[in-house]
Amino acid sequence: MRKGIVWFTVLTGIFSLTTCTKDVYVPNTCFKEDILPIFVSNCTMSGCHNSIDKKEGYDLSNYDGIMKGVKVGKPNSSEIFHSISGNDPEMPEKPYSKLSKQDVTKIKSWIQMGAKNSSNCTDCDTTNYTYSGRINPIIQTWCKGCHSATSPGGGINLSSYAGVVSSIPNNQLLGSIKHISTFSAMPKGTTQLSQCDIDAVEKWINAGFPNN
Ligand code: HEC
Repeated sequence: MRKGIVWFTVLTGIFSLTTCTKDVYVPNTCFKEDILPIFVSNCTMSGCHNSIDKKEGYDLSNYDGIMKGVKVGKPNSSEIFHSISGNDPEMPEKPYSKLSKQDVTKIKSWIQMGAKNSSNCTDCDTTNYTYSGRINPIIQTWCKGCHSATSPGGGINLSSYAGVVSSIPNNQLLGSIKHISTFSAMPKGTTQLSQCDIDAVEKWINAGFPNN
């Protein structure tokens, strides 16, 4: 009888551990590459959680600002996680879309794994600069929230290949991500893209910006 109870306890323990791990653990979650862009692209639009407007006291454009709403190791007691998760999340407010399940899971894993300020977690891939494999993912990760059809910052809609191409003339796209002083620095209000990402965009433009 005793043995039975012990086994039951051990087995339920293992079961909840594995289901829990399966549900939330995203290995190698990197702050700069995976987490920061989710906040920048979905929360720092004009009037929201940027360094100027600081709605509800939150500037989510950098690590320190994000950490104000994070309890290390405890997503469910972190105000930020609370506001974006659950069946009817409070944030982002309308007209902006809610975060994808995948993004919510990434943020949860990152908090559980210690909410570290990590960067450059993957090796720089200097060979791939195709539109579909490299350029579009950069734009989707870092720019989409502020340059979509519904909220085209500065009138620029980067949600399609044609939109991205129309931002290339006069060095606009490259000038903005290289932080050349005659352009607005992009992504707006946060750190610059990695040199690896900037190089990929430049190579793609110099190659004639193919839709590949
Ligand atoms: C937080 C919102 C936000 C994010 C994120 C963002 N942009 Fe912008 N972007 C804007 C706004 C707003 C403008 C209009 C100019 C301004 O207010 O600075 C703009 C302007 C631009 C311009 C025109 C710059 C000029 O000086 O002519 C380009 C090009 C651009 N963005 C590209 C990008 C790219 C590429 C990314 C991602 C790497 C990005 N933006 C991310 C909000 C954003």
